[in-house]
Amino acid sequence: MAWQILGREAGPDGTEFVLYRFDDQFMIRAGGYELMSTRAHGSEEALARLGCEALVGAAAPQVLVGGLGLGYTLRAALDCLPAGAEVTVAELVPTILDWQRTVVGACCGWPLRDPRVTVHCGDVVELLVPETFDAILLDVDNGAEALSWGGNRDLYGDRGTATLYRALRPGGTLAVWSAEIDPPYAETLGRHGFAVRGLRVPARGDWDGVRHVVYLGRRESGMHPALAGGGT
Ligand SMILES: C[S@@+](CC[C@H](N)C(=O)[O-])C[C@H]1O[C@@H](n2cnc3c(N)ncnc32)[C@H](O)[C@@H]1O
Repeated sequence: MAWQILGREAGPDGTEFVLYRFDDQFMIRAGGYELMSTRAHGSEEALARLGCEALVGAAAPQVLVGGLGLGYTLRAALDCLPAGAEVTVAELVPTILDWQRTVVGACCGWPLRDPRVTVHCGDVVELLVPETFDAILLDVDNGAEALSWGGNRDLYGDRGTATLYRALRPGGTLAVWSAEIDPPYAETLGRHGFAVRGLRVPARGDWDGVRHVVYLGRRESGMHPALAGGGT
């Protein structure tokens, strides 16, 4: 038996998103490239655990997840957050939300049904209001190299990084998934005031195979360097 196509949808710039199924496995491809699959989700879960680790003991943290994909990052965030947490998930492609609500959600316990979750169907950038979130978990692409939508290039650049910094509350954490170690991106985060750590994490949950990277940027209590007179 081969992978079967369950659905397809064009993103905002025409890039085609396709949902495949093989037995109980799912895969989303964007523009012909694999965006996310149920076969490997360890690093997407690690993104959530590491991004939320500073929130242990917080009563009502505000967390932003961008984007949804197959839902593993959202699931892992919900599993480690308290009952009073509010989690907003931003997903650019409406059909990915439909797939999650109908067939795909079963692979990670239907996270959109959790009462702590609010869905935003649109660009995650639209939610980046100053001093709103205690943690932002960003996995909209392969990292600083845009893949699913050209608009994401800005998000990983100077303008987007400054906006992400301001959207965090002081002490908040930005966690960004990356396929590989990316020194220029780490440098961008540091230049915008983040205290940066890059951690290699296993793609599938064991340490023997492929590893991906989670960049953690902590917003120290100060204001963005541009406002503090440090320049960007
Ligand atoms: C790599 S997948 C995310 C995988 C996810 N971490 C998981 O656990 O399954 C990237 C997702 O982000 C969405 N996306 C891409 N750009 C976006 C944006 N600017 N705002 C919101 N969602 C976006 C894509 O449609 C896709 O669903």
